[in-house]
Amino acid sequence: MTFDFETMLDRAGRDALSIDSLGTGKGYAPGAPLPGIDPIPMWIADMNYPTAPCVVRSIVARAEHPAFGYFDAPRAYYDAIKFWYKKRHGVTGIEDEHIGYHNGVLGGVASALYAFTEPGEPILVHSPTYIGFKNTLRTCKRVPEYSPLVRDGDGVWRMDYEDMAQRIERNNIRVAIFCSPHNPTGRTWERWELEKAADVYAEHGVTVIADEIWADFTLRGTEFIPFHTVSDDARARTITMSSVSKTFNLAGLQGSYSLVFDEGLREKFLEQAESSCYNEQNVLSMHALIGAYTDEGSEWVDQMRQTVQGNLDLLCDFVDRTEGLEAYRPEATYVVFIDCTEWCQAHGKSLDELEHELWDAGVAIQDGRMFNGPCHLRANVALPQAKVEEALQRMARVF
Ligand SMILES: Cc1ncc(COP(=O)(O)O)c(C=O)c1O
Repeated sequence: MTFDFETMLDRAGRDALSIDSLGTGKGYAPGAPLPGIDPIPMWIADMNYPTAPCVVRSIVARAEHPAFGYFDAPRAYYDAIKFWYKKRHGVTGIEDEHIGYHNGVLGGVASALYAFTEPGEPILVHSPTYIGFKNTLRTCKRVPEYSPLVRDGDGVWRMDYEDMAQRIERNNIRVAIFCSPHNPTGRTWERWELEKAADVYAEHGVTVIADEIWADFTLRGTEFIPFHTVSDDARARTITMSSVSKTFNLAGLQGSYSLVFDEGLREKFLEQAESSCYNEQNVLSMHALIGAYTDEGSEWVDQMRQTVQGNLDLLCDFVDRTEGLEAYRPEATYVVFIDCTEWCQAHGKSLDELEHELWDAGVAIQDGRMFNGPCHLRANVALPQAKVEEALQRMARVF
């Protein structure tokens, strides 16, 4: 079966922040293009592809049964998550009781922060970091303690285990947010890296919130290894958050899930998650997951990743041949974190000036400072290839 990743959807006015919020000044939206230029959405992390047909079929089939009363998740829901973990990540041993529902991955992160820490408490996070973690920490009145990721001799982003340990000790840190694969650097952590991180967390008794929302986006033959699988200890101290929404472009449907294997950890976490009384699954979002986590959904993901990888290469090739720009070629996600420091210095321009020129040209790219990149841009390439090529032509004119 072949899926369509080459038709550009017209999302304007169709519930799409990526287009409709441009130029509104709301949130983190880039500026609108100059009159007469169409915007190419390359910022917020959703995809400009139609979701998999199996997802739509599943939602429509449920919608055709015109009763939407109270419900419990059926067996098919739990089986779908177990099927997906086995098929895509080789994980077995997930039982129904390990699975919890959350209104969004960040909702789950917030519940874990409330359950296991106090207001004002420092939380270990790597930097660069995902803006959503910063916002959630601020909302929850917790404080990020950033452990910098560092480029090694080959330019690969790595964790600094000594730095992590020192920060944990110095600040009596009890909880870490661990993003795997990592947004915005695009790292797929290797097994030895996960094991070393797990050792640091274990040695200091740190509870790990493993945000694995990008698990299905590994590229270049890299393998996603769920953090909880690296050791028995990691299995017991980890709250894994994941979701069907990033993989299948369903953020507007809401919904995510947790995997927690330790009973004590799970009880305290889920008790907190439920205490809001708002944490209830939506029936259509649940059927989206049941439709997505299937063989057909898996085929769709493989084809989507091929398109994404081609687009990432196009953008990274452009970065490589543009003097003053630098980026790590991602092994996962669909975003590229572009360091513009040298380019801005050489051209006497600030990042603000540069990004405004790009926005004027309809390249709706994201300011990287919100991810702790001092002079960076983050570009989302989950677009038809022709649109990425068009964006690169416009970028070439600006750069
Ligand atoms: C690492 C990470 N976690 C969480 C989210 C958001 O998840 P949700 O919309 O389910 O809260 C994103 C979205 O980009 C993300 O990149």
